[in-house]
Amino acid sequence: MEFVGSHILSVDQFDRGSIQRVFDVADEMIPYAHRDRVTRVLEGAILSNMFFEPSTRTRISFGCAFNMLGGEVRETTEVKASALAKGESLADTARVLSGYSDIIVMRHPEAGSVAEFAAASRVPVLNAGDGPNEHPTQALLDLYTIRKELESRGRGMDYLRIALVGDLKYGRAVHSLCKLLGLFERIHYKLVAPPELGLPEQTIDELRRAGHEVSIHHTLTAGIDHVDIVYVTRTQEERFPSQAEADRYRGLFRLNQAIYTQHCEPNTVIMHPLPRDSRAQAQELDDDLNENPNLAIFRQTDNGVLVRMALFALVLDITDQVHSHARPVTWYTARRFARRH
Ligand code: CP
Repeated sequence: MEFVGSHILSVDQFDRGSIQRVFDVADEMIPYAHRDRVTRVLEGAILSNMFFEPSTRTRISFGCAFNMLGGEVRETTEVKASALAKGESLADTARVLSGYSDIIVMRHPEAGSVAEFAAASRVPVLNAGDGPNEHPTQALLDLYTIRKELESRGRGMDYLRIALVGDLKYGRAVHSLCKLLGLFERIHYKLVAPPELGLPEQTIDELRRAGHEVSIHHTLTAGIDHVDIVYVTRTQEERFPSQAEADRYRGLFRLNQAIYTQHCEPNTVIMHPLPRDSRAQAQELDDDLNENPNLAIFRQTDNGVLVRMALFALVLDITDQVHSHARPVTWYTARRFARRH
């Protein structure tokens, strides 16, 4: 895969070698993300961070990642605050923003919209989520997290057993993660979803054709035994035809410490792309799991900065300049990286 100057639109662009390259560069970013050092390698560069759907971690972590490399960030956070609300096309918006920025990150509610935007852009575009379709950088940070969690247990990625729980129909993070995991050997996917919210048949067929095992479960307890990872997702209520329809599925699968202890193997890793729905009627990941050391959800969010820094560095071709523009941090940093959940 050629990174330099490329759009990052889909996990289909990646192979095992290019994933490893992202992870190697992400590892090199640890001193900067942990505030041991600062680098100004992207001084003068501008990121347009365009989010036409709500976001906390993707938007902020992309912005922080660019800032940590020394670049500036400009943001739009809603369609109604942009000229799209006046009828401007995605192509015209892309043409305009390419004159202002060196790279663009974009989230949009329509599947395929980021690719349409990128086709008209003169600078690289990174897909931060296009409707129910894909969320490639989330999948990369999830895979980076899985790799680290498994390494600490003396395991590799091949022969992974993973339970994917919740709304697998509309969950774009799951769609991208399933495809990325499919690059490894003989993955066992245990899909835990209501029949109406299952993973798209086409994806299941592709995974089976590639030699992976896919089993389908409609109860949580049947799906989460004998796996290395339980990856829980939120009901993507914003994608449903109506709120009433979405409400039918809220709270259907709730993982808490008692269920974990009774049904999961010891040290099963618990993941979630977040946000988790913590409202009483949902509680897909109960707060009583917060002290469970196998809960990796905030290690995932921390890793998001590393992976996004790596993608900026690779696409903007500055991986070999990061350290030569670095110096130690001279200001106070709380010891927030000493105890990492
Ligand atoms: N995981 C994720 O995409 O979170 P945000 O919606 O907060 O960006």
